[in-house]
Amino acid sequence: MTGLLNHESGSVERVGDDTARYDHLAGQWWRPDGAFAMLHWLAAARGALVPLAGRPGALLIDLGCGGGLLAPHIAGFGYTHVGVDMAASALRQARAHGVVPIKGDVLHLPLGDGCADVVVAGEILEHVTDLDTAVTEACRVLRPGGLLVLDTLADTAIARLLAITVAERVPGVPRGIHDPALFVNRRRLVRLCARAGVPLSLRGIRPSVPQLVRWLPRRRGRVEIVPSASTAVLFQGRGIKEAG
Ligand SMILES: C[S@@+](CC[C@H](N)C(=O)[O-])C[C@H]1O[C@@H](n2cnc3c(N)ncnc32)[C@H](O)[C@@H]1O
Repeated sequence: MTGLLNHESGSVERVGDDTARYDHLAGQWWRPDGAFAMLHWLAAARGALVPLAGRPGALLIDLGCGGGLLAPHIAGFGYTHVGVDMAASALRQARAHGVVPIKGDVLHLPLGDGCADVVVAGEILEHVTDLDTAVTEACRVLRPGGLLVLDTLADTAIARLLAITVAERVPGVPRGIHDPALFVNRRRLVRLCARAGVPLSLRGIRPSVPQLVRWLPRRRGRVEIVPSASTAVLFQGRGIKEAG
């Protein structure tokens, strides 16, 4: 998957690996009308699952933090917000929004066991080539009693249809940002988390349809992420790490 929409010319460019793709789109992170608009909506929904920090010095680790879009949604919650990402251009923007940046791979986190009160994995699991290792690492750095929050795309035909075939026809949506082969098998995800001591509950989510319909022509206004009856496209996961 290598095609990308060039937002200046409207043409599709060929860009290589995941980091190069995000570097290419670096100017889009903080544009609410831009290529990452939906990430803004998802970050708000993700932030709503994060509680206030339960202790001074609490650490929230944001895996694949991108430009740090979660930051405004947890500002004042009392966490040190640490973001791990491979794209330096994204990390620079995350830092400008108060995130402590770590350039690294979520498959080899340069962080100690049990250091995090909260681990967030927003729209990252569908980008990793090794789901088992990503989940193991996310759960490893979480302390017992700590919270794992994630959202991602399900490994289903309907998710591939909506997130790729349909979404990539919407003007301004980058092409080739998703590899459908990496979409996440929900049963496997739940099994991996359970094996790592984190019983995970899933719930389906989707953008509010009336708000999305109003947003599309002018790319302005608020689009809330609301619960959906099914986890078959986009879903959130939430789980507390068991003691011992
Ligand atoms: C879809 S974006 C999500 C960004 C952010 N979590 C959000 O929701 O706004 C995926 C991010 O994951 C990063 N990424 C992809 N694979 C990665 C890996 N193996 N390790 C670290 N970051 C990775 C990309 O650079 C990109 O910033």
